[in-house]
Parts: sequence; structure tokens; C-alpha cells
Amino acid sequence: MIQLDVRVSHSWVVLVLGLVWYAYRKIRQKDRFQTTLPTAPPNKNATLSEDVYTQIEPLPNFNPETTEPIKIRPFKPKYHLTMALENTTLSDLVVIDSTYHSRISLRRQLIRDRPSDVLAANPIITPAVTEFYEWIMGTYLPRRFPTMFKLTLSPESIKPSGLQNLATDEIIPLTQSSAEQALKLIGSHIDDDFLFLLPTATGADSGKYKLEGFITCFPSGFNTAKKLNMKLADIHSPVPGYGDKLEKSMDRFFAGLPIGKIVKRVNWSITTTRELHVLEGTHLTQEQLAERQRQRENEEAGEGDEVNIANTVLRCERQTLHRLPRTKALVFAFKTYQYGMQELKDEGCGEELASAIDGLGLGSVPGMTVYKRQVVWGEKVKAFLRA
Ligand code: HEM
Ligand SMILES: *[C@@H]1O[C@H](CO)[C@@H](O)[C@H](O)[C@H]1NC(C)=O
Ligand SMILES: *[C@@H]1O[C@H](CO)[C@@H](O)[C@H](O)[C@H]1NC(C)=O
Ligand SMILES: *[C@@H]1O[C@H](CO)[C@@H](O)[C@H](O)[C@H]1NC(C)=O
Repeated sequence: MIQLDVRVSHSWVVLVLGLVWYAYRKIRQKDRFQTTLPTAPPNKNATLSEDVYTQIEPLPNFNPETTEPIKIRPFKPKYHLTMALENTTLSDLVVIDSTYHSRISLRRQLIRDRPSDVLAANPIITPAVTEFYEWIMGTYLPRRFPTMFKLTLSPESIKPSGLQNLATDEIIPLTQSSAEQALKLIGSHIDDDFLFLLPTATGADSGKYKLEGFITCFPSGFNTAKKLNMKLADIHSPVPGYGDKLEKSMDRFFAGLPIGKIVKRVNWSITTTRELHVLEGTHLTQEQLAERQRQRENEEAGEGDEVNIANTVLRCERQTLHRLPRTKALVFAFKTYQYGMQELKDEGCGEELASAIDGLGLGSVPGMTVYKRQVVWGEKVKAFLRA
């Protein structure tokens, strides 16, 4: 009898303690969710820095229709091959603008018609892809773009049941167990390409980051599927100067990037096509150039004959890199921008771009002129910009 009483009161104590703990957690969570700016000074404490994943600064009046694409003008008089990274905040991860609908419909078409060109995931990356999926759908998008993405609450539950994309009038599930499905949904709702990397576990390459999964609808002249399972250095093997000028610092940077930190950079080239999904043809090697020149001599064709200024664009990528807090995988993301030659000329930066085109051969890696095919489009584009 006495024995039983003790057991009953023991379970009461456990129950009451449990309730108090639950209420405390709820209040803390609510607090955290309502803070949009970090309240604590930045520090390297991994536990605290995970809070930056929930402290997303909202854009309360965001309207994609009236948001012009940002204008990136990254060209310099001389091209130096450097990482050129800037610190930024996680809030800045995804940029949306008036091109959203056309970009998203092109992405969906590619995901449907050419899935093996635009996405893949090794089994080892599934936890990272699903971690990213849950965060971007359940936390990032509804907090950053509250007028465009809303969590839907079902009346009988306090937990959100889905994410509503108000621009497409669709409900997106908040969890996914299949990496492939998660990548397809990410690609169907966000105009950014995402690549997932993990360190090699064993062997001589141990610690070097490898590409394990991706959704890249808009590659600029490479086939991401062929880069799967490659280390950073091998991914970049066609890039002149990479081994000498970037490899060491990149490997060190990727290995040391802490949770909660995010960096960004931009790059540029000129492409003679307005296509967004470009698997090849925007880069040249010395051998390909020599072959071209032999053929052109036979045909008495000049370089630039094939260049149509109306289809020629400045193509820029805004790239970010950050680490996921749970799986520790790295996420490399980029959004692609295109600016027509006439637009740049009208804006008054024609001369600046023309000198940057010469500058590709005047910096730390003169081979960039061949790699970026400047030897093909350079003269014609400069002449147009300076006319
Ligand atoms: C901070 C990180 C990175 C830096 C500084 C960097 C730098 C570069 C540079 C300088 C180029 C030459 C084209 C140009 O930008 O003008 C390049 C090309 C490329 N990068 Fe990166 N990169 C970075 C991260 C990555 C990651 C994480 C991936 C993939 C997982 C990647 C994939 C590629 C590919 C596929 C190319 C084209 C190579 C080809 O021609 O086949 N990059 N990168
Ligand atoms: C990080 O912060 C947590 C929570 O405040 C604390 O318990 C832990 O000791 C800290 N760790 C380090 C390495 O400072
Ligand atoms: C970015 O932040 C790191 C500290 O996390 C600092 O050492 C570095 O100088 C910063 N870089 C720039 C370009 O501000
Ligand atoms: C920009 O850099 C990315 C990755 O680093 C590369 O794949 C792409 O080809 C570059 N884009 C241009 C336009 O040079």
C-alpha cells in the first residue's frame, strides 16, 4: 500500500517536471523565433551559432513582380584569380526577383525532361539534403519572404502542415525522406542552384571536399553530373591557374568554414548565347583553340563571325557557401544573372567592360582569355561597346 503511494507520487513529480520543462522550451523557442537580429555578440560557440539559422531577417513588403534583378558589375581592369569572398548573413542566401516565374517554369521543364542532367544525390548526402530541405522550406523561406511563402496551419494541430507558395498557389510538404524528391522541389520553387559537398572520409584525400549531390539547372558550360564524386581540385581542373593560385586556400577555407558563417562572391564572363542551361561550349582549351584556328583558316572565316551581339550577354553568378549545422555538409549555391550588351552600353559602362575584357589577359592568369573564350568574342564585343 505504502509502496504504491510512493510510486504514484513519483510519477506525478515526473509529470509535473515534464510539463514545466516543456513550457520552458516553448517559451524559449517562441523568444528565439521572434528575434530577428542576433541579441548575443557573434561568437564561435557552435551551439549558439546555430541560432543564426533561425534568426532570418524578414522582407515584410516583398513583392517579386516589382523587384528588379540586382545589377552585378564585377569587372575589373585586370582579372586576378582569387577567392574574393565577402562575409554575409544567412538572410542573404536566396534572392528573388521579377524573373521568378519564367525561371521557375524553365527549371520545372528541365527537371521533368532532363532529370539526370540537372540533379543527382549519392546515398551518403541524403541526410544533408533533407536537413537543408526542412530548414529552407520550414524556416528560411517563410521568414525571409513572408508575403510569398506562408506556413499553413491545420486547425487540429499546432504544428504547420505545409508551406504555401503564394506566387504559384501550391502547397509544399515540410519534410522529405527522398533526396531526389527534395532536390526536385527545391529546384521547382527556388531560382538558385545548390551543390552539396562532404569531406572524403579516408585515404590520401581524407578531408578534401567532394561533390555528393546537386540540383543545377543553369550551369554555365559544364556538366554537373560529370563532376559528381569529384574533389574540388578535380572539379576545377579545366580552370587555368587553379592548382597554383587557388587550390590550397580553397581546401583550407572549405575545411575550416564554421557553422553559422556564410560567404559570398560573384564571377562573370561573356557568353554568346542567352540559354540558361548550358552544359558545354562556353570554355576553350589551348588545343581546342588551335583546332578552331586551323579549321577557320581553311574556311577563310574570322574569329567573331559567329558572334551575334543581340544574343551576347554578360553572365554573372552570385555564389554563396555555408555549412549545415547538423550534418556539417557544405552547401554551395549560385544564382545566375544575364545582362544584354545594349543594356550595359546604355547604362554607360561600355568602356569599363571593354577594358575588363582586355584585362582578362593582363592579370594573374593570362590563360583566362582562352578559357573564357575571349579570343572568340572579345574583339566584336569590345567594338560594339566602344562604338
Ligand atoms: C569559394 C568557392 C569557389 C571559388 C573561389 C571558385 C572559383 C572558380 C573559378 C575562378 C572558376 C573559373 C570560372 C570563373 O569563375 O571565372 C570556377 C569554375 C568552376 N567552378 Fe568554382 N569556385 C568555387 C566553388 C565551387 C564549388 C563548390 C563548385 C562545385 C561543387 C564549383 C564548380 C565549378 C565548376 C563546375 C566550374 C567550371 C569548371 C569547368 O570549366 O569545367 N566551384 N570556379
Ligand atoms: C557554448 O554555449 C553553451 C550554451 O550557452 C554552453 O553550455 C557551452 O559550454 C558553450 N561551449 C563552449 C565551447 O564555449
Ligand atoms: C569575415 O569574417 C572573418 C571572421 O569570421 C574575418 O576574419 C574576416 O576578416 C572577414 N572578412 C571580411 C572580408 O570582412
Ligand atoms: C562562375 O563560377 C562557377 C563556379 O565557380 C562556374 O561554374 C561558372 O562557369 C562561372 N561562370 C562564369 C559565367 O564564368
